[in-house]
Amino acid sequence: MKLAIQTERHSEILMEVIPVFEGGEVQHVCNSCAARVQRFVKFGTFSGKLGTTYKFTKEKDLGLIKEEVYVGLGKKEELTPEKIRFAVAKAVKEVVKLHKEKTTVRFIDIDTISTEEVTKAIFEGAVLACYEFNSYKKVSEDHKSINEIRIASVAEEKVADAEKAKEEVIALLEGTIAARDLVNEPANVMVPALLAEKAKKMGEEAGFQVEIKDKNEIEALGMKAFLEVAKGSVNEPKLIIMRYFGDEENKSNITGLVGKGLTFDTGGYSLKPNDGMVTMKCDMGGAAAVIGAMHAIAKNELKANVVAVVAACENVIAGNSYKPGDIIGSMAGKTIEVLNTDAEGRLTLADAVYYAVEKEGVNRIVDLATLTGAALVALGDVTTAVIGNDDSFYQELKAASELAGEKVWQLPAFPEYKEQIKSSIADLKNTGGRFAGTITAGLFVGEFVKDTPWLHLDIAGTAWANSDKGYITKGGTGNSVRTLYYLIKNQK
Ligand code: BES
Ligand code: MG
Ligand code: ZN
Repeated sequence: MKLAIQTERHSEILMEVIPVFEGGEVQHVCNSCAARVQRFVKFGTFSGKLGTTYKFTKEKDLGLIKEEVYVGLGKKEELTPEKIRFAVAKAVKEVVKLHKEKTTVRFIDIDTISTEEVTKAIFEGAVLACYEFNSYKKVSEDHKSINEIRIASVAEEKVADAEKAKEEVIALLEGTIAARDLVNEPANVMVPALLAEKAKKMGEEAGFQVEIKDKNEIEALGMKAFLEVAKGSVNEPKLIIMRYFGDEENKSNITGLVGKGLTFDTGGYSLKPNDGMVTMKCDMGGAAAVIGAMHAIAKNELKANVVAVVAACENVIAGNSYKPGDIIGSMAGKTIEVLNTDAEGRLTLADAVYYAVEKEGVNRIVDLATLTGAALVALGDVTTAVIGNDDSFYQELKAASELAGEKVWQLPAFPEYKEQIKSSIADLKNTGGRFAGTITAGLFVGEFVKDTPWLHLDIAGTAWANSDKGYITKGGTGNSVRTLYYLIKNQK
């Protein structure tokens, strides 16, 4: 996909997206076009309400046809970057329906949002809305994919800022799209070894180091909880470690990013019903998010040190799989009573976060996981649930998530909840009963980070979409890639 900025209103691209504020205010148009939009509004053809669109065909001289898609931005004083993403996504989907491969989107001049933010939001809305996962199907012959998006009518004095934002957003979009691709790849293909290989390739491209540890090395590290989950699968586990050191002067200041990497989760002997199992290729959504974020962080050469860790494996049934009632060990030395083999993510994460703290020396840590159905019950597919042990760290995350347009919400982590994961016959048990499932799952992971400032993001609802919604496409969403990027970029 080619992204470009132009100062001109028109170019050889005869497909144009024209943003319009509610009530009909439209920028960068000639008087007659402005009057036409006013007539649309007056006759109720098109209102400019957020996300509404109207297609218009113009016959130009020399027999050329120009197509315009008008898209509503809603009320001017209420415009936000997220609304820009949403509106542009709607417009670009109309462009796709017209079988066009290129389009311009006219810039939006507004005092309340910086040129950089407007530029990024337009590209994000446009590029992410166009995402398709077509590797496995025959596409019809008239199907066209958009391969060029240009922002038009950028004022001379804004070009430098717009170009800078374009360069930054390219890596963010690549990271987000990579995360979507990783999740969408089916689990018969996306086994732990392939996930590790993909991470390695991305590291070579973007400039971060990737180390892959195999089963023997994982055993040598004593990652017993991780190995118990992995045990039943013929597809061997991999521990994927990604290192980026962009701030050599502060070498001891390292953020750890840990992503849940279940390439498939059947539930194990606590088997999921088919309806709950069928989308479980998404259970490495946390891994996809950290791999995508590493790409963006390294490609944009952020001044920061980050080590990402993924304990990748499959939770399946075999004669030697772990069973409900088993008591297992962990790298930290704590014993765990397994009450439910479907609460496997927290077991892999326990060892992964402990490894990051103990062996990689990270001094703050974020883990991301498609961890609990309870997160969906609480917050739906709109918002990521967060718990942690450090409020100022949470405030940094919140600010980062707002820049990304990805919603987060903190749940309480009061010590009372820890009672639910105490076992009478081991140090911990892996389920905390029916209530507060997202909190107890998170607190379980928190038992393995020692005193390190820590945040846990449960992305069970946000990593996967059941249908298209604005710039979020059905399947893997790439959620949290951009939030993690801004968290690292704007580190305090
Ligand atoms: N991977 C699932 C959680 C999940 C559910 C992710 C729906 C995405 C969508 C996780 O491993 C799981 O099975 N969790 C159990 C925990 C329970 C057994 C305590 C759950 O949420 O039911
Ligand atoms: Mg499970
Ligand atoms: Zn799972």
